[in-house]
This record gives sequence, structure tokens and C-alpha cells, in this order.
Amino acid sequence: MSRNIFILNGPNLNLLGQRQPDIYGAETLADVETRCRALAESLGFTVECLQSNHEGVLIDAIHRARLEACAIILNPGAFTHTSIAILDALNAYDGLVFECHISNVHRRETFRHHSYVSLRADGVMAGFGTEGYELCLRRAVSLLTKA
Ligand code: DQA
Repeated sequence: MSRNIFILNGPNLNLLGQRQPDIYGAETLADVETRCRALAESLGFTVECLQSNHEGVLIDAIHRARLEACAIILNPGAFTHTSIAILDALNAYDGLVFECHISNVHRRETFRHHSYVSLRADGVMAGFGTEGYELCLRRAVSLLTKA
């Protein structure tokens, strides 16, 4: 079994730390990725991190995960609420999928309450700030290391 986990971030998450810090916090995506990499290594796993503002690039990464990753932690950004194509790609993936939102999307505008990705996700995280990524990682490792 692969011990590699993909952490994928969608549009505008490259601006983490600068973009609406009242909602998304002051940490940068590089900070989050560094913490996740260290946590994964301490648990005997590796992570590959990718951020893109382009739907097709995220879809290509999900396709690559079919051979290269035992789990995907995905913050699709606004594609969460719009992308059937990302859902279709995830439906062609056999490993674990965790949907991770920094903010509590359910306390925000109604258009953020619906997620296409949730139809495939094994777990959904929302409102735990950037710590949510590490919580998803711990859950993935816990499920993957259970007999
Ligand atoms: C987000 C929530 C989405 O609604 C929004 O479009 C984002 C970030 C979050 O992490 O809270 O870009 O996925």
C-alpha cells in the first residue's frame, strides 16, 4: 500500500494569510503544508501538496492519486459548490477522501452550504481553521493503519 497522502488546495488558497484573515486566519499555505509534512513523517507517511487555481489541474492531480496516493485531503475552495467534474474525478478514485474547509461554511452564505464533493467524501471538516488539515491527516492515518 502507498503511504503517500495528497493534500490538494483549490482556488485562492494560495492567498492564505493575506486573504480575508478574519475568516481564514494569518497562516500561509506554506506554513500549513510544512506542519502537515512534519506530522505525516512522524506517523510514517509522506504528503504531496499541490495548490491550483485551475479546475483541470486539480482533476489531473486526482487522476494521478489513483496510482500515487492512499488518501486525498482536498480543500476545493469555491469549486466545492460548483464542480461536478471534481466530484466525477473523485468517484474514479478508490482511496480515502477528506473534504477540508478552513471556515465553517454552514455559518456563511447559503451558496456555501451545498457541496458536490461531500457526496464522495469519507469525512468533512469545516470551521477548525487550518488545524483541520492536520485533523484530516490524523484520521486518514488512523483508518489506513487499522487492521
Ligand atoms: C473554503 C470555503 C469555500 O466556500 C470558499 O470558496 C473557499 C475556502 C474554506 O476553506 O473555508 O475558498 O473552502
